[in-house]
Amino acid sequence: MKIENKSYRTIWFENNLVKIIDQTKLPHQFIIKDLKTVKDAINAIKTMEVRGAPLIGATAAYGLVLSIIEKNDLSFLKKSSEDLIASRPTAINLKWAVDRMMKKLSGVNDKDILRLALDEAKNIVEEDVSFCKNIGLNGLKIIEEISHKKKDTVNILTHCNAGWLATIDWGTATSPIYHAYQKGVKVHVWVDETRPRNQGANLTSYELNEEGIPNTVITDNAGGILMQRGQVDMCIVGTDRTLSNGDVCNKIGTYLKALAAKDNNVPFYVALPSSTIDWNIKDHKQIPIEERNSEELSHVEGIDKNNQVTKVRIYPEKSKSMNLAFDVTPAKYVTGLITEKGTCEASEEGLKGLFK
Ligand code: MRU
Repeated sequence: MKIENKSYRTIWFENNLVKIIDQTKLPHQFIIKDLKTVKDAINAIKTMEVRGAPLIGATAAYGLVLSIIEKNDLSFLKKSSEDLIASRPTAINLKWAVDRMMKKLSGVNDKDILRLALDEAKNIVEEDVSFCKNIGLNGLKIIEEISHKKKDTVNILTHCNAGWLATIDWGTATSPIYHAYQKGVKVHVWVDETRPRNQGANLTSYELNEEGIPNTVITDNAGGILMQRGQVDMCIVGTDRTLSNGDVCNKIGTYLKALAAKDNNVPFYVALPSSTIDWNIKDHKQIPIEERNSEELSHVEGIDKNNQVTKVRIYPEKSKSMNLAFDVTPAKYVTGLITEKGTCEASEEGLKGLFK
């Protein structure tokens, strides 16, 4: 998608370096950063210079390429794969990408390993782009249906950033919106700010602005009243891990939005590529929920009147805090899962019907 009318992807490989858009600097500064070593890739995932389930998977795949460039040695590669998987715990795409790479590279000789690693990382990236595009085309049908019935602008609420910045291109939750807008369907997006890191306000609103899509940033707590007032036609969110029973783990606050949607008969959709499905865990209590640094809660960053990026503390230094980064929305609150293969019920039967 575009930034200042120029098309970008979130990650690419050039001259033996991995290039990323540093998302910790958006929306105030647009900086392309080089990742030179596997340590750089791990650090970029941990600090959220790259974030969003599909993008951290792709970064991990390229991280293994960097590991081979640095030192073509099997035990170093194995250690790199373990460190990459441990860099963030909740999004399954990370482990999925590393496992896929390691399977491809197992038993390969030293001479061929770099070429094969690079090919597979590129396959992961290209596949994500095409899956996200198909998610968009499948979700477009739902938006069009609402638009035909309503004969007016479709108001869509989204949480966190499941936009193209969280993937390679298109996004998951935003892809149906981009497709609808490009087809001339009138859409408007309610963007949850998404405390504490404000991915909605900083990233979703930014990327929608760059594509010219009308959007309004709201506090995380505003969705309920908007739904009661009939100002939300549908919700679409992304996910970091969806279980085979249809339970959806996503950015903290998603669950509360789904409860409000249920109470107000607002359809609540989750958009995901198949790389986000965890076919192994059966009980959502087993999903590792990331707990992040409390400074993300106690401090906010923004731009001051001199155009300088500044960080300030917003509550007493002595106050304790807890920063859980994800929650789980039970399948019963999810209207449907929009995937690259079509839209299905959030259930084992639904998912197995699409992914034999
Ligand atoms: O902590 P983040 O910013 O990595 O969390 C991202 C989300 O929760 C997204 O909704 C999810 O990864 C889906 S991205 C297409």
